[in-house]
Amino acid sequence: MSKTVTIREVLEALDRITGGRIVKGPADLGGNNPFVVTKSSDIPGKAVTELPGLVWGDPERAVTKAAVMMTLTESAIELAAATGVNCLIAHHPVADGTNSGGVPIAHYMNLYGLNVIELHEALHGLHPGIAWLHGHQAVEVDIRCGGLAGNILYVGRALPEVTTLGDLLSRLRRLMDMEREEAFLEEERTFRGCDDLFEAATAAAPTIVLGKPQDRVGKILHIFPHTGFSPDHLECVFRAHPDADTVLATISHIHPGHGLIEKARELGLRLVCGNSHALEIFENGLPLARALALLLPDMEIRIFRERMVSYPLDAVGCEGVQQYGRDIASRYLVKERAPSL
Ligand SMILES: [Fe+2]
Ligand SMILES: [Fe+2]
Repeated sequence: MSKTVTIREVLEALDRITGGRIVKGPADLGGNNPFVVTKSSDIPGKAVTELPGLVWGDPERAVTKAAVMMTLTESAIELAAATGVNCLIAHHPVADGTNSGGVPIAHYMNLYGLNVIELHEALHGLHPGIAWLHGHQAVEVDIRCGGLAGNILYVGRALPEVTTLGDLLSRLRRLMDMEREEAFLEEERTFRGCDDLFEAATAAAPTIVLGKPQDRVGKILHIFPHTGFSPDHLECVFRAHPDADTVLATISHIHPGHGLIEKARELGLRLVCGNSHALEIFENGLPLARALALLLPDMEIRIFRERMVSYPLDAVGCEGVQQYGRDIASRYLVKERAPSL
């Protein structure tokens, strides 16, 4: 018979994985733990403080099943409760009333007896996996590029088996199982009789923005545009690494019109967008789940994978619910014709 694992043992395992970064008591909230960080865009009332460790629940509770996910959502809560999962481990920080479907965490989690753990910045930087997936080995890491906290830069050397941009892309596509993801989306389009469907992981698929598949890749500047990396940062980094040939943007992508494209072109660099945020469950979630499985072999661990699909307004749901949407909108939400402007 397998041994019962408690929430406390999950927290101890995470503390071991992170080398002691889990919150252990009130002292950690008073500046003792550098991974207790507040994320704010200076929008009143919208800041959130990361608390690596238990956000809600009881350390003495036995784990029925655990689930590793990127972002806690109302769908994740409902999925957990309906499938016997009571230990939710979210990578992205949890905000009250936001990651709990608009109601207080206390009400929703207590209803289902759920325990919530978060582990975000305290997980970052523990492993070289994101560089490896993208076909390079980081030889230098700056977590404050240009003096901006959290603006991460890896300077990497392409792995021996990755000699061209085409190699880099096909490696990523293979590891991310992109062919199957694309085929699945095609199936969904056919099944629903709608060609105008998009899904996040495939819509933001890895791509070459500047350069050709046969271009050589050697020294890579691996950036994360959503952390604040600017064209000025690129210029500055290139001055320190004039032998770099490729900029690799991952987690977030760079779209046409962004200044980084022009700057990369001006500097003679190739530019590739790698994995988007929609694939972080593989980059960070899977290794975390595997680490927990190694330390707690008796605990059943599941992966909650988000799949965000975009439908045209007319294509979502069945005709009955479409009619419902039209009726409610016209009878209750838009009672009078809006005054013309
Ligand atoms: Fe992350
Ligand atoms: Fe993330």
